[in-house]
Amino acid sequence: MSKRSPRKQRKKFSKGKREQTKSKREVRPQRPPMRGWLGRGRGSSSYVQAADEWRGTTVQVCGLWPYAIGTGTPMVGVPLGRHIHTGATLCCDPISWFQRAKLISNPSAFVLGKPGLGKSTIVRRMATGLAGYGVMPLVLGDLKPDYVDLIEALGGQVITLGRGRGYLNILDPGEAGEAAARLRQAGYSREAAQVLADAHGRRHTMVSALLTILRSSPPTDREETIIDRALKYLDAHHDGVPVLGDLLRVIQDGPAEVRAVALDRGDDARYQAITENLEASLIGLVGGGRLGETFARPTTNPMRRDAPVVYDVSAIDDSEMDLQAATLLACWSAGFGTVNVANALADAGLEPRRHYFVILDELWRALRAGRGMV
Ligand SMILES: Nc1ncnc2c1ncn2[C@@H]1O[C@H](COP(=O)(O)OP(=O)(O)OP(=O)(O)O)[C@@H](O)[C@H]1O
Ligand SMILES: [Mg+2]
Repeated sequence: MSKRSPRKQRKKFSKGKREQTKSKREVRPQRPPMRGWLGRGRGSSSYVQAADEWRGTTVQVCGLWPYAIGTGTPMVGVPLGRHIHTGATLCCDPISWFQRAKLISNPSAFVLGKPGLGKSTIVRRMATGLAGYGVMPLVLGDLKPDYVDLIEALGGQVITLGRGRGYLNILDPGEAGEAAARLRQAGYSREAAQVLADAHGRRHTMVSALLTILRSSPPTDREETIIDRALKYLDAHHDGVPVLGDLLRVIQDGPAEVRAVALDRGDDARYQAITENLEASLIGLVGGGRLGETFARPTTNPMRRDAPVVYDVSAIDDSEMDLQAATLLACWSAGFGTVNVANALADAGLEPRRHYFVILDELWRALRAGRGMV
């Protein structure tokens, strides 16, 4: 606030007006300042207590005018704390805000912040509250670990991955095969085909992603086609769950279908030349190279879809950036595959509808792994 100097103020008034104001000031009763009369024994207060606040429904507090105010945030979702400005309880989680409060147009949230400011903590809080609402948290890759104790306390499944600790076979279609059989039995053959096609796509994407991380560049389109055809050949001719070694063998053997898309023109030497780079990369993945054998062996602990799940990947050292990224990708792929199967079965009415809260913490570690990852 700007204050006029007394001399300037005096200049503005005419002589008569000055007299008038003076007499008015004398008449007006004096009021104590904001904190009471200053001075000993006069009741001044150096600390003004905030008034107590209560929260109630409009029906209950409507008679308290003018002391009732509305809050900007609905009481829908997981209680997170207090609003910084109004002190009101703040509730927020992506699923309740989408489903019940209708505040957002899709059930997702992106948490961005500087290191150590509580990003994982707020997500833990949301996961805990949502578990109370019946939503199952799925932590697809916990690098710290931030969520393992929470999932254990919720009675969920902890899957440990890392060198020599556990394996996640990226060619394992999970429960897609079994689910497809159930769907077909119930007369949903189109949905069954969709589940299988989705599982195939997921496995293909994972092989390409591992090659991308290994080479720091994505595979060529011809290699992509060869992988695709070889996977289809494996599905048709392999008993049980294939591993990367089986894929490598198919490409080395070169069945007619694979040769056709490799455009070898009926020439063995040409086929070998075309597949040489792909073969070398796959040998690197199978033989325990930089990315270890984590993805090339049968899955040790298959994921459940009726309980909270955390993939504990905290054993992987921070210096092994490629392995961290590859493991996160494999966990995401397995996790989303499971959600997909659960949704397909629920759509067909074969299983109860389950909602999942999928947590992808430390997303940036996978994104920095190489060109083509985004
Ligand atoms: N609201 C809060 N008040 C006080 N301490 C908090 C609060 N939220 C989180 N913390 C503490 O701050 C520390 C860092 O929290 P957290 O690990 O969640 O941060 P982060 O943003 O996920 O970190 P990073 O960037 O390393 O992943 C933890 O010790 C946590 O207990
Ligand atoms: Mg964190």
